[in-house]
Amino acid sequence: MLAKNNLSIISKRISSIKGIIIVPGDKSISHRALILSSISIGTTKISGLLESEDVLATLNALKKLGVKIIKDKMNNYLVTGVSTFGYISPKKILNLGNSGTGVRLLIGTIAGQNVKAKFTGDKSLSSRPMERITSPLMKIGAQIKFNKQSIKSKTLPLEVIGTNKPLPIQIETDIASAQVKSCLMLACINARGTIEITEPQVSRDHTEIMFRHFGISVKQKFYSNGKHKISFNGEKTLIAKDLLVPRDPSSASFVIVACLITKNSHITIPNVCLNPQRIGLIKILKKMGGKISIKNKGIEGNEQIGDIEVKSSKLNGVKVPKKYSASMIDEYPILCVAASIAKGKTKMLGIEELRFKESDRIKVMSDGLKLAGIKTHEESDSLEIEGKFNVKGGISINSENDHRIAMSFLILGMVTEEPIRVENCETIYSSFPNFFEIMRFSGANFTVNRSFKK
Ligand code: S3P
Repeated sequence: MLAKNNLSIISKRISSIKGIIIVPGDKSISHRALILSSISIGTTKISGLLESEDVLATLNALKKLGVKIIKDKMNNYLVTGVSTFGYISPKKILNLGNSGTGVRLLIGTIAGQNVKAKFTGDKSLSSRPMERITSPLMKIGAQIKFNKQSIKSKTLPLEVIGTNKPLPIQIETDIASAQVKSCLMLACINARGTIEITEPQVSRDHTEIMFRHFGISVKQKFYSNGKHKISFNGEKTLIAKDLLVPRDPSSASFVIVACLITKNSHITIPNVCLNPQRIGLIKILKKMGGKISIKNKGIEGNEQIGDIEVKSSKLNGVKVPKKYSASMIDEYPILCVAASIAKGKTKMLGIEELRFKESDRIKVMSDGLKLAGIKTHEESDSLEIEGKFNVKGGISINSENDHRIAMSFLILGMVTEEPIRVENCETIYSSFPNFFEIMRFSGANFTVNRSFKK
């Protein structure tokens, strides 16, 4: 394990990556597995849980809410649910670190119970918008209190005072956000009546799938204009049921792009979650000429899975319309890297949500790529990148507390003429704790820059 503070890594050009690469469990599904099992009746055994900082922050918060969670000798997590009314108000503030999913889903779950809790996070999480969840949560009857620092910006820290009689919400949201949708679904589990949430595009539906796993029937309606409506009846009991977390397609995406852009590379990534709302990047990379094939399709934890086989490819620039954005929302930073090495221009449209992630990903990617010698053009909701085969590199990038920015620039360094140094790489532990080991094992030349001082 590498040092976890001020971790500065240098990535140097390599010839190829090869082998069978096992990526860790899916982050979105891991958060949901912990939260839903915590409010069920009985004990759920979760296998393959992602043991990253984000997920462990959710796990620790649940323990403070009175949930018993133990890890067995086989690395399974055993969660004893306390029912949908059973959390206790924690004495101390819950710190969710860097995790937007953890904080938004937990705030929702607490909002529909008779408990109160204060939430905070790291610098990045404390600058992310919370009004998108707090204003609908107030409509269901929860109280939200910001403090002096956060009242204007409607960010963390905040306090939630939940209600044991939440109202069933019927709402049409203006952003396709799985975090918002899931937060409201969790808040309304104890509501009497029918809950209806319509989003402008379908966002990842892991919560819908996992509600069904725990015995709650959820309807999904897909409209021809792209809208997606979910509905379910509240006042339901969740029944504990063991589950297996499939592997994370967002983590796999870094390995996929590393393989495509390096010469003579060939890898297979087994048992990856292939939920249709998570594979936008694979579709786009194939359109760019990427040699990617899916084998051994199956179902795991009610989710579609398969093995992804990738070979080095010559990529071409492509237009990425807005309709793809929800299905690859976390993959744009690594798509920017693929676009930088492709022939021609790549234009990504309708991506304004990227400005509200762990960092402003449009700006941070655009600025970093410019430094590395790539032409980019950024607008409020789009980014254009002019690819070239020989990228200079020789730069130092700060991760801005954003794991996906850090990993993207390390992958770019695998093909640039001069090395790329990424500072504050410790953020990678929030989603992909064995990224360095996996990448080095498959051929990456990553070294720790010991002279780095914060
Ligand atoms: C997530 C949803 C996405 C994604 C995040 C995980 C989730 O955010 O960016 O990393 O697990 O619900 P939004 O759907 O809110 O954009």
